Amino acid sequence: MTFESSKSVLVTGASSGIGNTTALYLAKQGYTVLASVRRASDVQALNNLGLNNLKILYPLDLTKPDQILSVTSYIKEQAGTNKIPVLYAVINIAGGGSIMPVELMSISDLKDELEKRIIAPVILLQELLPLLREGKGRILWIATPALFPVPYVADIHTADFAINYLARTLNLELLPDGIKNILIRCGGIRTPSVQRSENELATRIKNMPHGRMDIYKARLEKVLRDQVKFDSKRTEPTEVAKLIASVLAEKKPKTRYQTGHMSKMGSFLEKLPQSWVDFIMERREIKSLKKT
Ligand SMILES: NC(=O)c1ccc[n+]([C@@H]2O[C@H](COP(=O)([O-])OP(=O)(O)OC[C@H]3O[C@@H](n4cnc5c(N)ncnc54)[C@H](OP(=O)(O)O)[C@@H]3O)[C@@H](O)[C@H]2O)c1
Repeated sequence: MTFESSKSVLVTGASSGIGNTTALYLAKQGYTVLASVRRASDVQALNNLGLNNLKILYPLDLTKPDQILSVTSYIKEQAGTNKIPVLYAVINIAGGGSIMPVELMSISDLKDELEKRIIAPVILLQELLPLLREGKGRILWIATPALFPVPYVADIHTADFAINYLARTLNLELLPDGIKNILIRCGGIRTPSVQRSENELATRIKNMPHGRMDIYKARLEKVLRDQVKFDSKRTEPTEVAKLIASVLAEKKPKTRYQTGHMSKMGSFLEKLPQSWVDFIMERREIKSLKKT
């Protein structure tokens, strides 16, 4: 039995992007992958791949606590009856996010984002920690290395700040158990979410009532123009999957890793004093405003 085949790992958001690539990559490595999706069509698509060690958890909408609890009960039952190998990792990947100024963001979108990226992973860990203790496991958190203010993406980065806090606090609270919380901080990764959020923004610019949108319109249009160059340099999600696989295999993993376009710059910025970072970001914004 290999290291990988003796372990189960839970991957959320396995229908698309980083979650999908990671679930398939880890299954091909031999892990039993418990891959969560929220649509029947995604169950079908994953089943069609014919990977015996890819077990689909469906439905799991992370904004619905009852679905989270039914999935965790299932995992406990499967592990308790040795139908799956011991749970070794929870890999929190599912997320979304939109590009919008705080003043105009949809409150229900913001709530959804915080629920799926913060509340749901906390419920998952509360339910699954006993199994992770048995497996001397670890929790991986996908985030950005963006512990600095970035305009118009507050729902994503508010969650990233909170995830950073949670993971580091958990490392203290779970120190006696040796359960590590590891931040996988991604820069620009080429996934379907990129086009989706840019299309959504373009539609909102067009359709939102005049008035307060007019205040931001030129700035948001510039964001869309700037994205074109950034998007052309995005990193393939396989790089994230490979990093995750190596972090799972690492005997003594670090608490934070980064991968992807501009992730090094992001992780460098967060090492600077906050007042310096605020100054740098303000200069950047003033320069950008002049170009709108
Ligand atoms: N792409 C990047 O450049 C980048 C950079 C840094 C961090 N990240 C983070 O990486 C994660 C994955 O992003 P991605 O780019 O791979 O996006 P993606 O392709 O859109 O995948 C998002 C995944 O999350 C799932 N999901 C969304 N809402 C959910 C909910 N309420 N319940 C359960 N699952 C839900 C989606 O399922 P459905 O298909 O059902 O919607 C999908 O499987 C996100 O947390 C994102 O913040 C991405």
